[in-house]
Amino acid sequence: PAEGPLAGRHLLVTSGPTHEPIDPVRYLANRSSGKQGHAIAAAAAAAGARVTLVSGPVTLPDPPGVAVVRIETAREMLAAVEAALPADIAVFAAAVADWRPAVFGGEKIKKGPEGPPPLALTENPDILATVARRSGDRPPLVVGFAAETTDVIAHARAKIARKGCDLIVANDVSTAAGVMGGDRNTVHLIGRDGSLETWPTLAKDEVARRLVARLAALANGP
Ligand code: C5P
Repeated sequence: PAEGPLAGRHLLVTSGPTHEPIDPVRYLANRSSGKQGHAIAAAAAAAGARVTLVSGPVTLPDPPGVAVVRIETAREMLAAVEAALPADIAVFAAAVADWRPAVFGGEKIKKGPEGPPPLALTENPDILATVARRSGDRPPLVVGFAAETTDVIAHARAKIARKGCDLIVANDVSTAAGVMGGDRNTVHLIGRDGSLETWPTLAKDEVARRLVARLAALANGP
């Protein structure tokens, strides 16, 4: 049997972007690399947890000792997350597309004299909020991420209430900060009680190890 502070626990992580199809060859996406989410999955496995990683399209290798479920769209991610429950801890590090094209035709959209096609969007499910509000099998510890370009901490505080999660890991993803796709991250941990802790700029692997140690402490109690 596994050893470590998370031995016997099931940790669920989402990671990477989602791809939302416009037609069979085009999609909407974002700049998430999956590095932070994958590092959390790896650190949790190293801490003895059974880990399910639900990942959007990334170029990263599967972390060792982790069960990886690959999906493309937000709706597929939600279905995979719900199928993986129950979990003791759920960490939502994926950069889920907020919107998807309202219609998916199934045929490639042709360029024509009528000019560019309208691209109507419709809302995707909020996976974090959906899981945080489940009754019966809500994971006891639900962690969200907040990628912001301005007022990082204020937005994160609002988000924790809106989403119903227990902890938010907030980071600045303005291009100057180079977080998206980069190897380092500066994060703020915001608790439900309003508590704020700012960590120094660290390698994403180190952010993952510290976060996993914190989650183990919270899950195992005083
Ligand atoms: O609202 P916002 O997208 O900034 O919230 C970010 C947090 O919510 C992240 O933890 C992200 O993984 C999660 N999220 C989600 N499903 C969405 C949008 C965001 O799980 N559709």
